[in-house]
Parts: sequence; C-alpha cells; structure tokens
Amino acid sequence: MPSRPDALISTDIDLAVERLRAGGLVAIPTETVYGLAADATDADAVARIFEVKGRPTGHPLIVHLASETWESSAPTWATEVPAAGTALAETCWPGPLTLLLPRGPAVIDAVVGGRRTVGIRVPSHPVAHDLLRRFGGGLAAPSANPFGLVSPTTAAHVADDLAERLDPERDLILDGGASEVGVESTIVDVTVDPPQILRAGAITADEIERLLAGVVAPASGPSRASGMLASHYAPTCEIELVTDRARALATADDRRAEGRRVEVLDRTDDLVVAAQRLYDDLRAADRAGVDVLVVVEPQPEGLGHAIRDRLTKAAANRPDPTSRAD
Ligand code: TXA
Ligand code: MG
Repeated sequence: MPSRPDALISTDIDLAVERLRAGGLVAIPTETVYGLAADATDADAVARIFEVKGRPTGHPLIVHLASETWESSAPTWATEVPAAGTALAETCWPGPLTLLLPRGPAVIDAVVGGRRTVGIRVPSHPVAHDLLRRFGGGLAAPSANPFGLVSPTTAAHVADDLAERLDPERDLILDGGASEVGVESTIVDVTVDPPQILRAGAITADEIERLLAGVVAPASGPSRASGMLASHYAPTCEIELVTDRARALATADDRRAEGRRVEVLDRTDDLVVAAQRLYDDLRAADRAGVDVLVVVEPQPEGLGHAIRDRLTKAAANRPDPTSRAD
C-alpha cells in the first residue's frame, strides 16, 4: 500500500490539469514557494483552498496566469493596467512579482474576499508555466501551508503539512523540485500613486524604483496584505534574532545554560542560498526538536530585506491565532 503522500505526489502535468478542471486542488511548484491551486473561476474549489489551509476567507488569493493567457485576456482579470504595472510586468514577468490591479470581471468574490483589487502573477517555474499554459485559465493559489505556519519549498514539505487534508482521488501535489527563490513574490500595489510595496521579495525595492524611474512607498499603514501582519511563517521552535555570529554563539551558550536545545543558523555569507533554504532550515529545526533557533540576520539590503521580513514574522510572539497569516 502506498502511503498517502506517495499517492498524492506526481510529476504528471496532464493529470494536474485534469484534476484542476474537475474542481480538485493541485499543489504547484513555483520559483518562490509551492502554491495550493484551484481554478480561479470555480467558487467551490476556491472555498476548499481556504478550508484545507484553515485560512479565514477575508484573506485574498493571488491569481496565477501563463504569459500567453495574460497577453490574450488581461482585461478579463484587471479592468486597467496602470503604466507602472505595464513597466514592471514587461520586465519581471514571468517571475517572482505580484501586481495588485483593479479587479476584472473574471475575478470572483471568493478569490479576493470582496476586494476591488486582485493580485496577479505570472510565475517563471517551467512546470508551473507549462501547467498554466495547458490549463489556459487562471489559478488562484496561496502558499501551500496551513495558515500561519512555514511556507513549503518542496513537494515533500507540502505532503508533510497537507497530505491528511487532501484527497488522493481528487487532488494532487505536482513535484517540480525545490523552489529556486525560496521566499514569496514581491507584491506591488500599482493602483496607488506612488506604487506601494506590500511584501518584500526577490525583486527588490531598489530594482523596482530603477524600473519605474521613481520612488515607491514601502510597506506601511493598515495591514492590507495579510503577509504584513506581525506573526507569519512561524515554526514551532522559538526564533531568536541576532546581528552577528559572535552574538549568535554567545546567545546559544546562554540558552543552553538554561537547559534548552539550541541551534544556530547563519547563512549571511550567501543571501541567495539563505533565501532558498530559509523555510527548509526552519522546518529542519522543528524536525530536530530544537527549542530555540538562534538566527543571524542579514544586512537590510537587496534580498536581505525579504529574508529579514520573514525572520521577524517567524520570531514574533503569536499568542493569538487571529494575528497569524497565510
Ligand atoms: O510567491 C507567491 O506569491 C506565492 C506563490 C504560490 O505564488 N503565493 C503566496 O500567496 O505567497 P499567499 O496567499 O500565501 O500570500 C499572498 C499575500 C497575502 O498576504 C494576501 O493577503 C495578499 O498577498 N494579497 C493577495 N491579494 C491581495 C489583494 N487583492 N489585496 C491585498 N492583499 C492581497
Ligand atoms: Mg502564504
């Protein structure tokens, strides 16, 4: 008898398309993290995403499209694409960028929680892109993790988290290897002037300002993207952030002296690898039964912003489950 995860994991893109067309859920590999996808126009399938994740329905989902689909049907997904959106889409799509645009007629309430904007992304992962092209429509997909917990960057992560909640007869985990970027897409709201970055990602604020030849507003104000909430991406172990390796070793000694099981995580020598491995590192600490993971934070520049953002949220106290996100 195959175990449940084995029954769910596959590399068969045609089967994935079939399952999506029949209203099933398919966990899809993307270059950022794995997403839990459903046909964006199928209200029942979209409702199941929220159920399986345990995510409150007010938190909107990103709609994923193939380049061809975006080119041929943009007006059905977004009523207007402001000039800043066009400039960013031309350079960054396919890739780890989500644009907030005024919602078009194909966007159902369940996807955006009744909002007037929709997040659109054209992923570059070849398996995701191929799947989207064959599917032909839009796929609504949040990160494929239970609400508030660590995002997945491999098919095995998704199976660890969701196998019990998925149906091997209806759903699928499409295996496309480990995600290359490792942190979620940069989200830019281009419906406001100047455009505002709602979530830091691999496409940095500097890069966006350069592409737009103008300033962008940093993430601030009331939490419009749930990823902006204080607690997020949270492992079971406690995360303690420090500024350098010497402090990490000293802190680790202190915690060990308190009788706690401690590990140190320092990938500041290579931020691309740090981002790629971040969620697996957090998951590995939990698997190893670590009580406290002492993490050296990268400098706040380039990709360091996105990593610091995820680490800060992973380290935040989370006594109240309503303060968690995605
Ligand atoms: O890289 C990614 O963006 C991954 C992959 C799977 O594409 N997806 C992802 O989705 O991270 P999710 O749902 O875990 O995070 C999307 C964030 C959430 O914080 C959500 O609230 C916000 O984007 N968001 C989506 N649509 C929005 C909208 N219309 N207005 C405001 N925030 C929005
Ligand atoms: Mg998420």
